Amino acid sequence: MASDPSNNVSTKQFSIRPATYSELSTIANILTKAFWNDELFGNIIHPNRNVFPEDNDLYWLRRARVNWWDWSHVYLVSVIRDRDRAEGEAVIAGVAVWQRIGTLKKDMALNIFDPRRLAKPLAKVATDLQARIWPNRAADPGNEDIIERSYHYLDHMWTGKRADSWYLECLGVHPNFQRQGHGRALVRWGFQQAEMEGVSVSVISGDGKEEFYRRCGFETQDGWSGMGEGNPLRIAPGGLIYWKDVEYDAEGDIESK
Ligand SMILES: CC(C)(COP(=O)(O)OP(=O)(O)OC[C@H]1O[C@@H](n2cnc3c(N)ncnc32)[C@H](O)[C@@H]1OP(=O)(O)O)[C@@H](O)C(=O)NCCC(=O)NCCS
Repeated sequence: MASDPSNNVSTKQFSIRPATYSELSTIANILTKAFWNDELFGNIIHPNRNVFPEDNDLYWLRRARVNWWDWSHVYLVSVIRDRDRAEGEAVIAGVAVWQRIGTLKKDMALNIFDPRRLAKPLAKVATDLQARIWPNRAADPGNEDIIERSYHYLDHMWTGKRADSWYLECLGVHPNFQRQGHGRALVRWGFQQAEMEGVSVSVISGDGKEEFYRRCGFETQDGWSGMGEGNPLRIAPGGLIYWKDVEYDAEGDIESK
């Protein structure tokens, strides 16, 4: 069972593993804390977070409860084992949400008649209804969906040789555990998947996180989240798109390393 990470732990050992559905509340709270001082997720989307701090979690939780059922998404956690605690008890230090853009491999794609295809639309209806009854009071209602409204301005970036990509949709490490290697390990998972599948890796960098992503292996910068006339994300700082492209040899085959 994972617990809240605000308690100190005595060992730095950690591992990366898929999250469980029951961990989504903890994950939401970590993301709230990680992005508390971020201009986009903080001031622009959640200007009232100091008045309604718990409501900020709803932003992350509601999105997670919908996207969990989207089989192109993988929720990962970085977990610290605490040797001073009971066997099996662990602390979640960081979270990554990876999305496989493009053609899904057979082990991820659902058959067209698979009833699990209904899970995401049903979760969306339930979550939207809940949001109407119990709105996120920390958020600016005009900006709460600013990221979703910007998607179609960026779609053209994931075309051609970048049509297939492991995209790092979200990454956050609890402030108590930053600069201890959790972020890099959560990023490495996507690089390993991409290398096995011969596809690119991509991320939209938060403001000030460009150097972190370069250190993690992203080599090329191309595009930004506010591109395109009318894109609502023009007002947000940062948002540079980074890539680790697939390398092709002279014959157009993927270069093996
Ligand atoms: C950005 C973030 C995910 C980094 O995770 P982390 O676990 O603290 O980073 P790591 O310890 O794995 O750092 C890996 C390397 O990047 C460097 N690094 C980490 N954060 C950095 C930053 N903000 N600027 C420059 N370098 C940074 C580390 O010093 C380390 O360098 P090294 O190559 O010398 O070892 C984390 O700080 C965080 O959650 N921030 C708030 C939320 C956020 O901005 N997420 C990303 C949005 S796109």
